[in-house]
Amino acid sequence: MAAPIVVDAEYLKEIEKARRDLRVLISRKNCAPILLRLAWHDAGTYDAKTKTGGPNGSIRNELNHVANKGLNIAVDLCEPVKDRHPKISYADLYQLAGEVAVEVTGGPTINFVPGRMDSIVSPEEGRLPDAKQGPPHLKDVFYRMGLSDKDIVALSGAHTLGRAHPERSGFEGAWTKDPLKFDNSYFVELLNESEEGLLKLPTDKALVEDPKFRHYVEIYAKDEEAFFADYAASHKKLSELGFTPSSSGFKATTAKTRTILAQSVVGVAVATAVVLLSYFYEVHRRVK
Ligand code: HEM
Repeated sequence: MAAPIVVDAEYLKEIEKARRDLRVLISRKNCAPILLRLAWHDAGTYDAKTKTGGPNGSIRNELNHVANKGLNIAVDLCEPVKDRHPKISYADLYQLAGEVAVEVTGGPTINFVPGRMDSIVSPEEGRLPDAKQGPPHLKDVFYRMGLSDKDIVALSGAHTLGRAHPERSGFEGAWTKDPLKFDNSYFVELLNESEEGLLKLPTDKALVEDPKFRHYVEIYAKDEEAFFADYAASHKKLSELGFTPSSSGFKATTAKTRTILAQSVVGVAVATAVVLLSYFYEVHRRVK
């Protein structure tokens, strides 16, 4: 078992530095889509019943799973960032990369909370969704994680970014006209039946076939703000599956900061009192 993560001021500083490194990496390599997919595939193995899988960095030992074909590229891209900030767990680094990928490409800000521990235990292969299937399969997989119909639709909107590669998944092409821009165009294209040349996986089509899913598709196609708000909430849920943010690090730091602050206030008050007393004493002496 890996050592617990202590989220103190130093850890938070490293997170901020890694965030900057990831922004530079994404702008240099245009790798936002594959980093987002890495974060999703690390988290998407979660099983709420057995509390196994989830965002714990174990994906780096699951690159031979069929669903993860091509994600070795994303793992390798993250490695220099990990080398520069070794304190940060892989689990946090991959989720941070996913969050930064969304933000840098114009998507919503996701409230990232650090402290995920790494695990070397891998779940069995086959927990991630199979793109060739329909609504019941999507529900099975996402309900197993503890996610809802709304989460399924909102999160599928991540296909606004990137493309499919035949040598990785057997599918080909992008879902939207600008695969490096995070917006609601995935839903607009999904409802656009005449659209030629853009990709629609069977699991994408499932979102317009099932009436409960379709309800959200129609909302998100019309209202980008609603999509961004729901996406940010669902992405946060996905990135925190099985993870309870440990408040101990924060508490310890906050308590220490508060004590220092209280001591400083008392110090300043005593110093002010001494100065004032000396002044009054001096005035009193002169008057005499
Ligand atoms: C709903 C079930 C899902 C299925 C069946 C599915 C399936 C796929 C497939 C087959 C690809 C193409 C991979 C390749 O050939 O390179 C892909 C790409 C991608 N997926 Fe999904 N996906 C799903 C949900 C998600 C979710 C929830 C996210 C993120 C929150 C996501 C993010 C991405 C991204 C960003 C890419 C583009 C990767 C690249 O350009 O390299 N997907 N997905």
